[in-house]
This record gives sequence, structure tokens and C-alpha cells, in this order.
Amino acid sequence: MSDKDSFYVTTPIYYVNDKPHIGHAYTTLLADVLARYHRLLGEPTFFLTGTDEHGQKVDQAAASRGVDPQAHCDEFCERFKELWTKLGITNDFFVRTTQEKHKKVVQEILQELWDAGEIYRDEYEGWYDVSSETFYTEKDVVDGLSPEGKPVERIRETAYYFKMSKYQDWLIQYINDNPNFIQPDFRKNETLGFLRQPLGDLCISRPKSRMSWGIELPFDADFVCYVWFDALVNYISSVGYRRDDAEFKKWWPASYHLIGKDILTTHTVYWPTMLKAMNVELPQTIFAHGWWLMENAKMSKSDGNVVNPMDLCDKYGVDSFRYFLIAEMNLGQDSNFSEDAFIERYNTDLAGNLGNMLSRVVKMIIPHFDGQIPTPGGLQAEDEELKIAVLAAVNAMEQSIYDMKMNKGLEQVINAIKACNRYFEQTKPWALAKEGNKERLATVMYTAAEALRIISGLLFPVIPEKMTVLRGAIGVPANEISPDLSGLKIWGIIKPGAVVTAPDSLFPRIDKPKPKQPKQQKKKNKPENVVELIEISDFFKAKLKVAAVTEAESVEGADRLLKLQVEVGGDLRQIVAGIAEYYAPADILGKRIVIVSNLKPTTIRGVESHGMLLAAKKGKKLTLITTDDPEFKTGVDVG
Ligand code: MSP
Repeated sequence: MSDKDSFYVTTPIYYVNDKPHIGHAYTTLLADVLARYHRLLGEPTFFLTGTDEHGQKVDQAAASRGVDPQAHCDEFCERFKELWTKLGITNDFFVRTTQEKHKKVVQEILQELWDAGEIYRDEYEGWYDVSSETFYTEKDVVDGLSPEGKPVERIRETAYYFKMSKYQDWLIQYINDNPNFIQPDFRKNETLGFLRQPLGDLCISRPKSRMSWGIELPFDADFVCYVWFDALVNYISSVGYRRDDAEFKKWWPASYHLIGKDILTTHTVYWPTMLKAMNVELPQTIFAHGWWLMENAKMSKSDGNVVNPMDLCDKYGVDSFRYFLIAEMNLGQDSNFSEDAFIERYNTDLAGNLGNMLSRVVKMIIPHFDGQIPTPGGLQAEDEELKIAVLAAVNAMEQSIYDMKMNKGLEQVINAIKACNRYFEQTKPWALAKEGNKERLATVMYTAAEALRIISGLLFPVIPEKMTVLRGAIGVPANEISPDLSGLKIWGIIKPGAVVTAPDSLFPRIDKPKPKQPKQQKKKNKPENVVELIEISDFFKAKLKVAAVTEAESVEGADRLLKLQVEVGGDLRQIVAGIAEYYAPADILGKRIVIVSNLKPTTIRGVESHGMLLAAKKGKKLTLITTDDPEFKTGVDVG
């Protein structure tokens, strides 16, 4: 195994037969986030992506548009590059398989393997599916269709084969000896399952008479190279193989080849056996992620359900898109895409939790400390607690990068943000300000700002644009905006006196698009005073519970609102209610009220609300629904 200390991550190179979609965007984004974290860990990092431009698919796409294949590639390759620029992708190189330096390496490898007897010539007769460029045996074909249901053609031709079969036992042994080689584990078992069948040799040629868009075989000008044999080589041709030994040694073997689950065999069977024949070390890990689905079904152009990443970024912003993809997909599993889930996650994690934390820090520091980070006094237990929670998130995030579970790491970061919002509830900086307890207020606000410095550093690789603004706003110096992880592990780096400014709303809430009402339900068709009837099951969706009001205060700048802390069966939660005209804070303290406990959290005038209380209203009067029977403790169901 290599002892290199660098990090090298690759994405599949994408076919230029169509526009990029969310699947392409996901792998590239995953690689970007991983590369950014490794840079943050101080490791020399190389991140490679690019386009796969030869072969039948691309040739056919060009022909169908009536353009020359190279012109077609030049045009479509730009679409990928444009998307990567838009998404803030930080690849170090963009490989195109039509680049001379790549073609040269492929030809040299072919010649070497031919000379070494690893490639041989033979006659082939059998079934061929043009769309997937796959050959099938007699038993695979039923009624002229491949096992995938695609029409196949009978062809007979001369072909060149790579002696893949002779490496079968070696490969099985290698996979068993190197448990991290294929990840996740269940994909390793999938490949081992595939290898239980006898492995054939790999046809690596296509006759020019049938398809000439490829790299010419150096030992037979009537043939071009099979697209996969050409494409896989990009992973080494891009980092100096046969061109610059020092460069190659610096990066190879790759730390991760990130791929989608559908291209597992080419990467875990073809590629390792090719490398073995070339006598080149194997990549450290091939990691296959799941697919993005729409309503549990595959996205397809014909079903019109393909998600266009450009559209989503235009509509909701690049960072929200980046955050959603990384936070939502359980690495390795399939994930369903829906705009509703997108908006919900954004509103809860970013607009709600993070936005709330930022606004509390900024809104207290600007008026009370002349917009400068205050000098803290000694830490009290609750300050220490927050510090521990935030530093634990740094470790969790770091571990999740090594374990390829960044979505889990992000969960811990969000938990640290929640801890910080709870910290505000405990320490009540607004009350400290009212009492004039500036010394304690300074410690609390320093602690919160320092927590935000660390948290924003942890989120930086995922949402770099927003975190650049946020970090600037809390006084992080320009040269530390892009953090290094060691600086995130140390508490107390943010300097008293650093200037805090209020950024424009970083994460404005997104309203969910209203579902279109069927025509007959339109209001104007509804007679006055007719109550719409609902099913009882609809009513039971709302979980009503008894809750005790433990704290109440008015909300600055919102005359009608009260902010309540309520206790529900041992849990504390915050509720914002529009009852200030009817109840003074002292009047509601200690009351046992009824709340809807399973409402999605929302933010009202910058304050988070986790539920709604019930009240009866008549004209200008309002009374809370309460219970005074001591038997009915908090947490009891109402209904
Ligand atoms: N050109 C080959 C790869 C050669 S690598 C040496 C190829 N290209 S592709 O453009 O068809 O697909 C590229 C990647 O996109 C694959 O990893 C595939 O899994 C991924 N995705 C395509 N649709 C996807 C989803 N709906 N969801 C997630 N990823 C999916 O294969």
C-alpha cells in the first residue's frame, strides 16, 4: 500500500451526449466537498473531473444533431464546465478524453499490453446492443432483446481482447485482502457476487467500419479502442502517468474514485485488472453512491422527471442546492428528490437554526458592544457546555470525512447550532442587557460568536459562498475566511475588538409553492358560511397536548407577540404566540395550556417557534384554552 500523504479524488468522466443533470451534479459536488475538507485538513489535494467524449453514444448524439463529433464534444463539454463554475466546483484539472496527452497515454498502454501478449486478436460472432455498447451471449438474448430489454444485432467481426479472465482469482483475493477497496461494504459483496461467475476476456476494439469515433489502436489502424478502456485511463493520464513520474508518484494511487452504483463493474473489475496488467498500483477506494430518484422512480428524459441543477440553483441559490444534496443523501443509499424536501431542509437547518443563531449574535453585539466582539470574563458551566458541544462537532465532522459519512457529520454540526440556540434561552442575553449586566453579557456574546466562528468553518466546504459572508460579518479576518481544521479545534481564536456587521438576510425563508387547487375547490364557488368537512383522520393528524408555561416575555419590535417557554411532558420548547394584546407575560406564567405539538418549526419575526397554542377568540376578546385539573399533567394528549 502506498505511503503517500496526498489526497486524490476523482469523479466519473461524464458522457457528452446530453445536458448535465442532478446525478452528475451530485458526484461532482461530493468530490468537491471532500476535496475542500481535505484541503482544510492541510493535505495536498488533487481533484479531477472531466468528460468522456469517445464511443458510440457520443457519436450518435453528434450524428443526430448533424454535427461533427469533435464540434459536438466541444459544445457539450462547455455545459459541464459552466455548471461546475456555477456550483463553485474546485477541480484542479478538467480532463477531456479527446485531449492529445490523454490519447497518447492510451495508445502507449495499448501498445505495451499488445507487446506483452496481454491483448490478443480473435474472431467474434454474437449479439450486440448498440445503445449500451455491450455484447451478449446466446443465453442472454430472448426474442431479439437483451436482458435490459434493448434490441440486439447479430454481428461477426474481428476483435481484440484484453486477457481479463486470467486475473479473476487474483482480483477476488485482492478484494478480500483489502476490505476498504470497494465501499460501501454491500457493493464489495456485489462485485464478489459478480466474480462468482467465470470472468471472460474484455473486447477492447471497435471496427472503424462500424464506429470510428475513438482512439485508434496503435497496432491496427482499422480499429478504435472500446470507450471504457479509453475512459478509465483518464484517472492516471491526468496525473502524469508515463509523462511526469514525480507528479504521478505524488498523487497516485487515487484516494477515492467516486462513482454511481451503475458503473461498479467497470470500476471494480475492468479497471483493477487493467492496472494489474500494466503493473500499476490499484486505487485505494472505489466508493459507489446511490441514485437520486423521483418519487422512488428512476429519472428519465422520456418521463420528463429529470432534475436540472441549473434551474434549482437559479431558483433557490447555489449554496442551498449544495447543502441539500450533501445533507440529504445517506451516502451509499438511493435518495428521493423533491422540491418540498429541499425547501423544508433549507428552512429548518439554514434559515431556521443557523439564520437564527447568526441574527442573535449580530443583533446583540452591534448595539451593546459598538459592533465589536467583546472581551469575555471567566466561563461558567453553561459556557463550558456549549464549548464542549461545538468542539465535539469538529471531531464528529472530521471523523465523518474519513468514514465517508459527511451527511452524518453535518447532522452533528446542526446539533451544535441547536445547542447554541438553547444556550441563548438559558443565558438570556436580552435579559442581561436589560439588567445592565454587561460583564456576563460580554462572556455570553463572545462564547456565542466563537461557537459561530467554528460552526461556520465546519460548514465552509459545503456552503462556501454564504460562509464567506457570514465569517466576514462576525469579524473573522480575510486570510482566515477559508479555515484550516486545526484552527477550528482551538477555542478562543476570535479576537475581542473584531468588527461585527449585519449581513443582508443570508438565509431568507423560502415559501413552499402552493399546491394548485382543483377548479371546483376555488373559493368563489364556495357558498358563504359553509364549513368545509374533513375526515376524522385529518383531525387526528394534529397532536394536541397539555403544556405548562414556564417563561414568557415580549418580543422586541413585535407588539402582538409573546415568546413563551413551555414544558411538555419533561421537554422544553419555545413557542411564539400572537397574544400580547390580551395577555401580559406575567398573566400567562404557570398556566397549563393546550398546544399543537407536531407543527413544523417556523420562525416568526426572527424567533423560532415550535408549536402553536389554542385559544378562543370572539371579536376583540381572546381566551386561552387551559386546564386547571391537577390530574392533567403536561404532556397529556388532548382530543
Ligand atoms: N462516461 C461514463 C463514466 C466513465 S468513468 C471512467 C458514464 N458517464 S455518465 O455520464 O453516463 O454517468 C456518470 C455518472 O452519473 C455515473 O456515476 C452515474 O451513476 C451518475 N448518475 C446518473 N444518473 C444518476 C442519478 N439519477 N443519481 C445519481 N447519480 C447518477 O457512466
